[in-house]
Amino acid sequence: MKGGRAGRPDRGSERAHRSAGSPVRRSPAPWILAITGASGAPYAVRLLELLGRAKVPLRLIISGHGWRLLETEAGIGSDADLRRATGGDWSNIAVFDDGDRGAVPASGSARSGGMVICPCSMGTVAAIAAGTSRSLIERAADVTLKERRRLILVPRETPLSLVHLRNLTAVTEAGAIVLPAAPGFYHRPTKVEQLVDFVVQRVLDHMGVEIAVAARWEGERRER
Ligand SMILES: Cc1cc2nc3c(=O)[nH]c(=O)nc-3n(C[C@H](O)[C@H](O)[C@H](O)COP(=O)(O)O)c2cc1C
Repeated sequence: MKGGRAGRPDRGSERAHRSAGSPVRRSPAPWILAITGASGAPYAVRLLELLGRAKVPLRLIISGHGWRLLETEAGIGSDADLRRATGGDWSNIAVFDDGDRGAVPASGSARSGGMVICPCSMGTVAAIAAGTSRSLIERAADVTLKERRRLILVPRETPLSLVHLRNLTAVTEAGAIVLPAAPGFYHRPTKVEQLVDFVVQRVLDHMGVEIAVAARWEGERRER
């Protein structure tokens, strides 16, 4: 673990969303955002930046290999680095330790809008397919499925083995949305950022969050 990474959950903003004993819920249920060790850290950084800026309440969990890929692919080695890279304001974000299977996202009784795992390693896909729940991310995904909430997985691997395909089928049958990190080229991207935004836009669409960062298909514009 690198210095500055959250070992204990930051429950400050969690408390702000609780109103014990009150029959009226004023704040939207937080989404869970998990980052695991598949290639594609820039997708996670951009998603976190946009959700942070839009003040969408979030519970953030990062696996050990999620951190490894953040460092390798984006030069991000600590909470402070990640906070800086995503705009600096985390007032809507509560951070949880992936090793703490007793934390809030581990329980179905905790309110949740759903969960996104971006990027999602094939190892985590396999764990979700098997229901192993050996980390907070795996447990939170298991809970999201059992509570019939939206679970969006953004895997990245190529080629895919029969094991991968069977696990992706199993999680789809259980209710997850498999949204591969596979950007389209029909909007003629010229920058990596546009490819990243293509995938992030699809994630935001499936979360039901209205943020527009990528051009949408409007049919071919043919000269007449
Ligand atoms: C540089 C690097 C790139 C990796 N890329 C991928 C990948 O694209 N997809 C994948 O499923 N696993 C990839 N892995 C392997 C996962 O990180 C590894 O299986 C890990 O145990 C996943 O654990 P986690 O899901 O808890 O993060 C990569 C590992 C490294 C070090």
